[in-house]
Order: sequence, then C-alpha cells, then structure tokens
Amino acid sequence: MQLQTFEAYLEAYELSTKNPEQFWHSIAEGFIWQQPWNKVLNWNFKDPTIQWFCNARLNITENCIDRHLPQKANTTAFIFEENESSNNHLHISYQQLHDEVCRLANVLKQLGVTKGNRVCIYMPMIPQAVYAMLACARIGAVHSVVFGGFSAQALVDRINDSQCKVVLTSDGAFRGNKKIPMKATVDEALQHCPSVTHTLVYNRTGDNVAKQEGRDFDWETETQKQPASCAPVYIDSEDPLFILYTSGSTGKPKGVVHSSGGYMVYTCYSFLNVFQYQANQVYWCTADVGWITGHSYITYGPLLAGATSVIFEGIPTYPNAGRFWEVIDKHQVNIFYTAPTAIRALEAAGLDFVKPYSLASLKVLGSVGEPINEEAWHWYDTNIGKNRCPIVDTWWQTETGGILISPLAGLTKTKPGFATLPLPGIQPVLVNDKGEEIEGNNVEGNLCIRFPWPSMIRTTFGDHERCRHNYFATYTNLYFTGDGCKRDEEGYYRITGRVDDVMNISGHRIGTAEVESAIDEHEDVVECAVVGYPHDIKGQGIYAYCIVPHTTKTEAELRQEILNSVTQLIGAIAKPDKIQFVKGLPKTRSGKIMRRILRKIAEGELSNLGDTSTLLDPTVIEEIVTGKL
Ligand code: WTA
Repeated sequence: MQLQTFEAYLEAYELSTKNPEQFWHSIAEGFIWQQPWNKVLNWNFKDPTIQWFCNARLNITENCIDRHLPQKANTTAFIFEENESSNNHLHISYQQLHDEVCRLANVLKQLGVTKGNRVCIYMPMIPQAVYAMLACARIGAVHSVVFGGFSAQALVDRINDSQCKVVLTSDGAFRGNKKIPMKATVDEALQHCPSVTHTLVYNRTGDNVAKQEGRDFDWETETQKQPASCAPVYIDSEDPLFILYTSGSTGKPKGVVHSSGGYMVYTCYSFLNVFQYQANQVYWCTADVGWITGHSYITYGPLLAGATSVIFEGIPTYPNAGRFWEVIDKHQVNIFYTAPTAIRALEAAGLDFVKPYSLASLKVLGSVGEPINEEAWHWYDTNIGKNRCPIVDTWWQTETGGILISPLAGLTKTKPGFATLPLPGIQPVLVNDKGEEIEGNNVEGNLCIRFPWPSMIRTTFGDHERCRHNYFATYTNLYFTGDGCKRDEEGYYRITGRVDDVMNISGHRIGTAEVESAIDEHEDVVECAVVGYPHDIKGQGIYAYCIVPHTTKTEAELRQEILNSVTQLIGAIAKPDKIQFVKGLPKTRSGKIMRRILRKIAEGELSNLGDTSTLLDPTVIEEIVTGKL
C-alpha cells in the first residue's frame, strides 16, 4: 500500500487512471471486510450517485483497532499531551483504546442508540473525543462532531438538521489559561433540540455542572459499569460513517455525509503515502477533531495504519509560543502536521521560542487548511525542519474526505506554495468559467475533479439536491471544488484560494452568508455585506460593511453588539476583524451586491476597482473608499 519511490508513484498513478477499479480493488483487499464487494464502483456525477465497494460489509473500528491487537495490543495508539505541560502524560495502548471504545459503545447502546442513529459529539481535544467517534462507529451509529468553539445556536442548528439522539460532551474544556464551559452550552442548546433524549458528560475540568435527572448521565460512572468488549456491528460499505457540517457560499452550513468503506480505504492509503509513516514513528496532527482534518488524520487514517499519534489538548501559544516545539522534543515526534496560520503566528513570536529545542526527531512536516505563503513555508523549512524534512503541503476539503493533491514525503520534489501533484486515483481538471477544460501547463482556472475517489462526499444530509447543486451542477460531469488553481510549467498544482463566497479564517471555513445573517440579527442593521481580506496571521480576516441608518448608539457600542451577535449565533471564530459603517452598498441595477468591488476595497486595491458602470449608484463607492478602515 505504501509507495517507496517517485517512479512507483508514477506507475501507481497511471494504473489508477487507466484502471481505477483494479487499482482500488487491490488496495481495498488490505482491509478486513465481513463480506467482500461484488463491484468496485458504481457512479454518475449527474445525480450524483457514488458507490464504492458495492454490497461489501465492514466495521471500520475492527480495522482501526481489533485488526492490530495480535501484534500491537501494548503499542501506544495515542499519547495524550494535556493543556497544562506536565510529566504525567498518558499513553493509551491499542488494547486500552479497544476497551474504552467498547465500554462507551455499550453505554450508547444502553442509551438506545442503534445503527443509523445520529450522535452529536461536542468535546474538547481529549482522547474521549476519539473514543466517542469510534464508539459510534462500533455500533453503526453516525457521528456528527461539532467544533467546541461553536455557539449554542450553531449547535442547535446542527443537532436539529441531523436529528441527533444523544449528545456526548464534557463539563468544560481547558484552553490555554482559560476554562471554557461545554455542558452549559449544550444545556442552552437542548432547550431547542427535541430529538435529543440523553447526554453523556465527561468530567474534564471538574466544574460542578447541572445534570438533568433522567437525561444527563456521567460518562465515567456509566462506562465503568460496562464490559470491555462489544461486537462490531457490520454495515454496508455505503452506509454513512459520519456527518460533518461545513460552510458553503449560501445558506446554513451543510452536513457533508461520508461513507464507511470508501472513506476507510482512502484515509488509510493517503495517510501512509503522503506522510510516509514508518512503523514505530510518532505522528502529531495539531488539528481539532471538530474539523475534517481531525477526523481523517487524527482518528481514522492513523489508526487504520496502526500508528502512534499525539493528541494535544492545548494551544500553540500557551504557556508560550514554544509549546509545539517543546511537545515535539518531549515525545520525539517524527511527523508534524499543522496549519499555516499556526506557523505564521509562531513565526511572528520569534526564534527565541524555537531555540531551546533540538527538533532532531522530525522527519516530515505537513501543512493543511489554506494556501501556505512562501515566507511561512521557508520559515517552517529552515527553522523547524532544519532544511532536512520534506514539507507536504496537503490540499483537500471536508467534502473530499482525504488529501487529494500533495507531495508524497521524500518522494515528490517539493516547491514552496505548491501542493504539487495529485495522489493516485485523483484526476484534477482546470476549467474556465464556461466549463471548458484548460489543457496544458502554465495555466490557471477553477479546480475540478473528473473521476470519483473512494472518500468523496456522498450527499448532504437530508438534502441530496443541495449536494448536486453545490458540487456537481456548476460544470457537467465534474466535481467542482470551489477553489482556484494554477498548474505551472512542470504540471505542479498551486491552490490560489476560494473562488466562491467562502472565507478561510485561520484555516476555518466560514461562509460570508452565515456571518451576514448573524450581523443582520442586530436590530439597527438594515443591510450588510461581508468579504474576506488578506490577514498576516489568519490568512484571511473578515471585513463587514454595515448600513445602520438610524441608531441611538455610538459606533463603538454598535461594533461590540455586532460582535456579540456573531459570537452568539456562530462562535467567536466568525467575529469580523473590521466593521465599517456605510450609507449604501454597491449594487447592480437588479439589486445584487457587487462583492468583487467590496473585496477589492477591503484588500486595499483602490486604484483597480474594475468596471463600476453597471452600478445602480456609483457614488456609494466613493463614500466606502473614503471611510475604509
Ligand atoms: C483550503 C480542510 C491551499 C481550500 C482540509 C479548500 C487549502 C478549503 C489547502 C477546504 C492547501 C485546504 N492549500 N488551500 N494545502 N488545504 N485549503 O473543508 O480553499 O476545512 O477548499 O478542509 O481549504 O477547507 P476544509
């Protein structure tokens, strides 16, 4: 399954495009299936219908855990590094992982959860979050992890959309020098979530939280009562494994649905090949389980490969900006996978925080979530990798389930800012706005994928039409990523960023429409428009233009209230960095806001606003430019 040379990659790539079914058939044979498939692939992008390993049956946790037990019962699956730096970190072996997952799965069964039921996971970055995902998968339930930084309202929207039956949470979370309430947020949300019958609350911070009799149960008390074995429930390869909500350019976040069989095969294959993980190495991905990276490359990919991973509860800057480097030395991390926003923040903190650490254990560095600028790439390469660790700039999305374009560590020649080449099985296409394919090298266009791969999105929960419309309708017979992309003279890919109304704030996907509707909730705001703009640390910042014609408040008061509204409706991650009050917004005669112009102004490209002749009232531009923040 693991490619050893660049030539082997080229060969695998060729086979994977000439005969994808044969290619994936032989990779899938490396897993345990309760029943094999009778057809590798059935698909069309029109509906879309995508089925991999048709009619096969499996349980992914058997592949993540049980399969490794004969050789690895005592091997560490996870090293838990707590928020507070200390010497009593926890090593969790594959056997312990098995026992914890089984106990928790038994509790879920007792709470009435059965195959196909949805379970919401709203947890800090602790091993129990991973146990929770696996416990659901053990019994065929579908998990929906909601990032712990989302507000009660955001939690309500997600729980109700997928009709979750149970919520797994904790009393609170440690985050740097703060304690964040979790259960209190869940309590607030559950006032509006009739589908939820029970919660299970893990005691992390020791805070005394309210428990509703009959509804809320204590995690440890319940799991301790259960046996450490639970037979895996076998499900169809196409039965959903999880739902993960992500932002689009319109409306509320959508629940991206991933399958079981295809997702398993692709996350394991991509993990082993991109990072070139070797037996006994220590791997650390700093993502949160609330995002797709935490699903595919903390939980599933590494466990499927039998790896040893670090789970980190803390943040990069607590107690100081040397924390990542300290953890790398402490646990002798070999493979380190993080986001450009973290790299830029730590670069800004200065080299004094890097100097005390040797970082000699590092072999491979990774980057994910947003384009990595060349400066940050070089800083990472020089100061962390000491110019001897390949950097894998991995491009992918919640919808793709796994990494699609990336160097294979040590095999593919890297180039700063480039995600380089597609993994075997991935057929990228660049198209122009008319949907015509742009062939050859040294070109730029919208990035699409021509052929299905095993871990791709299957549907958006409860609304298949939305899935079709969002990803498969823009261009005929192509999956559209929403990203712009260059292909250089060598055929290397460089992702240039979103071409739709989705922002990427510190690697977090946020739709402009979501932030706008949160701002509109403020009673004095009659209209607003939100765009992303370049931000030194976050990659993109949020710029909001608001029309407030009548108010008794000062601008400072209004700003604060708007920020509060966004925090309440979405979460602090979606707070605008800049709020400009304007009299009007640039609109076409048909009333459409011209975001292109607002984006240019926010970017500071004032001399080049493009064609403004179609505007209903060109004078608004002048006022906006004059008042720019
Ligand atoms: C962006 C995160 C450039 C891109 C795994 C994509 C990237 C969106 C990269 C998906 C990269 C992710 N280079 N851009 N290496 N990785 N992106 O769903 O715009 O949270 O469409 O998945 O992040 O974000 P998501």
